[in-house]
Amino acid sequence: MNIRFGVDYYPEHWDEKRWEADAKLMHDMGIDVVRLAEFSWSKLEPEKGNYRFEWLDKAIGILAKYNIRVVLGTPSAAPPAWIIEEIPDLLPVDSQGRVRGFGGRHHVCQSNADYKELVKLLVTEMARHYKDNPSVIGWQIDNELGNSHDDFCHCKSCRRHFQKWLESRYITIERLNREWGTAFWSQTYDKFEQIPTPMITPNSHSPSLLLDWKRFHSDLIVEFQQLQIDILREICPHHFITHNFMGFFNLVDYFDLARNLDFVSHDQYPMGFYDMPQPMKEPSVLAADLDLIRGLKNKTFWIMEQQAGPTGWEILGRTPKPGQLALWAAQSIAHGADTVVFFRWRTCAFGTEEYWHGILPHSGNPGRRYFELQKFIHEIAPHMQNFKNALPQSEAAILYSYEQSWAFEIQPHHPELNYIKQVRKYYKGLYNLNVPVDFISEEDDFNKYKLILAPLQFLVSDNLVKKLTGYVSNGGILVLTMRSGVKEMNNQCHIESDLPGKLAELAGATVTDYDCLRDQDMGIRYNGKDFRCELWCDILKPVKAECIGVYTEDFYAGQPAITVNRLGKGMVYYIGTEPEQKLVDDILANIVNESGIERIYENSSEVEFVRRRTKDADYIFALNHTGKTQVINCRDNWKRVINSEKLEPYGYALFIAERTNNP
Ligand code: GAL
Ligand code: ZN
Repeated sequence: MNIRFGVDYYPEHWDEKRWEADAKLMHDMGIDVVRLAEFSWSKLEPEKGNYRFEWLDKAIGILAKYNIRVVLGTPSAAPPAWIIEEIPDLLPVDSQGRVRGFGGRHHVCQSNADYKELVKLLVTEMARHYKDNPSVIGWQIDNELGNSHDDFCHCKSCRRHFQKWLESRYITIERLNREWGTAFWSQTYDKFEQIPTPMITPNSHSPSLLLDWKRFHSDLIVEFQQLQIDILREICPHHFITHNFMGFFNLVDYFDLARNLDFVSHDQYPMGFYDMPQPMKEPSVLAADLDLIRGLKNKTFWIMEQQAGPTGWEILGRTPKPGQLALWAAQSIAHGADTVVFFRWRTCAFGTEEYWHGILPHSGNPGRRYFELQKFIHEIAPHMQNFKNALPQSEAAILYSYEQSWAFEIQPHHPELNYIKQVRKYYKGLYNLNVPVDFISEEDDFNKYKLILAPLQFLVSDNLVKKLTGYVSNGGILVLTMRSGVKEMNNQCHIESDLPGKLAELAGATVTDYDCLRDQDMGIRYNGKDFRCELWCDILKPVKAECIGVYTEDFYAGQPAITVNRLGKGMVYYIGTEPEQKLVDDILANIVNESGIERIYENSSEVEFVRRRTKDADYIFALNHTGKTQVINCRDNWKRVINSEKLEPYGYALFIAERTNNP
């Protein structure tokens, strides 16, 4: 059976009498899967050890009549009131020592042993109960792990866990003292038991302690997920296991969190959350979210929550324009989603999310959103099998690292310097050229790419230097940016050589001075054109490299800002500053042209082009994120599959190009 489209469904919020009508409407729309139960602990275990699956069985049975399959969520993100009564320590403690109360969700300390025991028991019961149910095809563990967890938790148990984690990493306290540089401000520890979690202090914590805290925190969440994976793998070996990720959310190292899942799922909300400064995320940001998610396992994925209506809790976003819901779903598919599940089926009448709109409005009567998505599903679903599992086969990649993002969160240098922002800017440069991009980690194979962008390589390991050197020697093109090679992995400054430290050989240049641009931006000249840059300036001295961009102001006017070095068969660019988008676009356009990287579409246009490449054909999506009609010039070998060269406002089209000379 092909599972292509689904909805997140909460039968427990509605009268049972309505369930059949829901299932029929879903069926008519083309829905073949629902996700259920990820927050329904109090219904599944109303009191300790009293497991009640009757209601869920009944809902699953009704859905089955309409051929709708089920993904079950394990409800560990919302332990009910009786658990808090039983385990008061379960409530998380924030860095100011305040206990966060019951009343929302995620009110948990993830190291709490009693809670983990209850989770184990419930997941085991659920798994046993549903292992042979023919409707159930897989599991989502918890929900958006790490969400709402900020810097929790600082309870006694978490502190003990942190100390143990440090002990297994450093073995002896002397080594930890060295790696953290605790000679500073008399912070030398005699034993692991003295080490605090980073609770509020009169000033700032050690950057090395903070980085280890973030690593530990991430590991704790990964471990929490693993506890449930182990149970489900054993009892339900035929079911898949996934989890719903959140794009560039970075409290957890998503490469680690993805490792033992069958595939990754993602929650895609183009209008973001009510507290986002912009009413709508930029299309390139949405595309980057999806490409990052695909990159976690270099594999196609599910969308477990795709926006289905206006979003908002206390404050609301705008209503999606006609076409937008389908366009966003098409964008998810274009970037690698093989299944799209919409959040949520029907807008809830109560609770915190009563204005986070579903496909159906409060009244339950199908309206504009239902019919738009119904039409979309009917037009695209029949084609999806043709490119199932197909990836874009990108020639360019971005090296993405959670540790780099954490290190910059701890020490941003400039208040506006942000690792993720810079990654998105370079991504956008390639996006604007219609060049497909993969996100890769330090563990991945570098050699299959022609171009690797490695922004802000602040912390540098010997392994990374070795891999990058091998890649460049074999002909790869590498782009490094400012503040690279500054730190060792323990978050101490590199002292063996001039910056960019271990990357200096690759860059063929050194940094002689730097300037954190706190109160102004800066001029920069590249290829005879003037641009602006901001935040930071590395003032470079080419050793072997050639200078291709200079600063134009202040005492370092005329000094190198951008260099390129030839090394082996490859090249290394070093961009010593934060360029404005136009300059990033220009530099990347030159690199892409010179290196012969294939662009899906070469003319300039406001349309996004994405491909999924099978052995025999490219499936090319053209996505019009603008409110205007757009006309594109298809290549001769593009054949229409859905819609045409004339894209409606917020419209999309799908083309197929046979691959005749495929390698
Ligand atoms: C997601 C979450 C859902 C729902 C939705 C709307 O982040 O997974 O459970 O809360 O946001 O707020
Ligand atoms: Zn805790």
